[in-house]
Amino acid sequence: MKAVITTTARYVPERIMTNFDLEKMVKTSDEWIRTRTGIAERHVVEKGQTSSFMATKVAKILLHKSKTSPEDIDLIIIATVTPDMLFPATAALVQDNIGAHKAWGFDLSGACTGFLYALETGRLLVESGKYNKAIVIGVDTMSSILDYTDRNTCVLFGDGAGGVLLESSKKENGVMDSILSLDGSGGKYLHMPAGGSLLPASHDTVDKKLHYLKQEGKTVFKFAVKKMADVCLEILERNGLTCEKIKLFIPHQANKRIIDAAAQRCGFTEKQVLININKYGNTTAATIPIGLDEAVEDGVIQNGDLILLSAFGAGFSWGSMLLRWG
Ligand code: UT7
Repeated sequence: MKAVITTTARYVPERIMTNFDLEKMVKTSDEWIRTRTGIAERHVVEKGQTSSFMATKVAKILLHKSKTSPEDIDLIIIATVTPDMLFPATAALVQDNIGAHKAWGFDLSGACTGFLYALETGRLLVESGKYNKAIVIGVDTMSSILDYTDRNTCVLFGDGAGGVLLESSKKENGVMDSILSLDGSGGKYLHMPAGGSLLPASHDTVDKKLHYLKQEGKTVFKFAVKKMADVCLEILERNGLTCEKIKLFIPHQANKRIIDAAAQRCGFTEKQVLININKYGNTTAATIPIGLDEAVEDGVIQNGDLILLSAFGAGFSWGSMLLRWG
């Protein structure tokens, strides 16, 4: 039994925040942001819109496009570091919103690699033969944990959601291979210090701005380029492939310079690499499924094509997945 992605979907909030908007908030410039990151604008939620709001939009599009009844969904996995609340899980809120009464589900915290972790988990559960249909979504409301007075971080991220419907199939397509990794010694370089059991919310944690994302950008940058390139080369080699055989490389969108450097080290041509960071910024768990849905919509991916996904993020976490489409 294989697990095949039969449908893709994405949702980004309507409101757009441009680099020029950010120029009015912190000491930055459109020129700096574009040249250092490749970002021109990002989407951000309105007050009251949440990760479950965006994930529900994606789940409903998946059901509509695939003409699937919510009652037929067995499993919902949501990758996010910005759930609506610590519990119940975002998956529970989405399950209720779409009326998937027979589904179970959970949230998974894998930061920027979250969608790959979730896709691996979902596909193994479907491949076990016990579950037929799983919704796997990557969603993050990064604007809810950004300090809009810190130019080092607030210009980098955006809000969004993307997802897939995984269905059991006897075809030989689907996830062909995966390599997923974690190195917790990198945790201190990209994290949100407070709000968990270590530092529960208090006046002190709020005063010290500990409920915001903190990042040592340069350190993360170096690891990201190396690990993303290494893991892609490893998965290609162990499948007896060279990068010419890959129709599309969909990397996590954290910085265009990271993508360019990793793609160059692997030997991908510009045409083989999906880049949309200019429109969305870094939407954390959502970058890869948003890119996948755009590629499907634009007709870039055809049945039988090999697709390579790769991500790097907080943890440090990273990984790569090889898909055969259709
Ligand atoms: O998805 C999760 C994984 N995250 C990542 O992969 C992010 C990895 N890191 C990066 O993408 C880059 O390191 C950044 C985009 C975060 C920063 O780029 P950089 O080329 O590493 O810049 P830097 O941190 O070395 O900063 C260079 C200068 C500094 O000024 P001084 O000290 O040289 O005077 C910063 O203060 O740029 C300054 N700077 C800014 N200037 C204008 C930092 N942020 C800004 C800004 N606007 N927004």
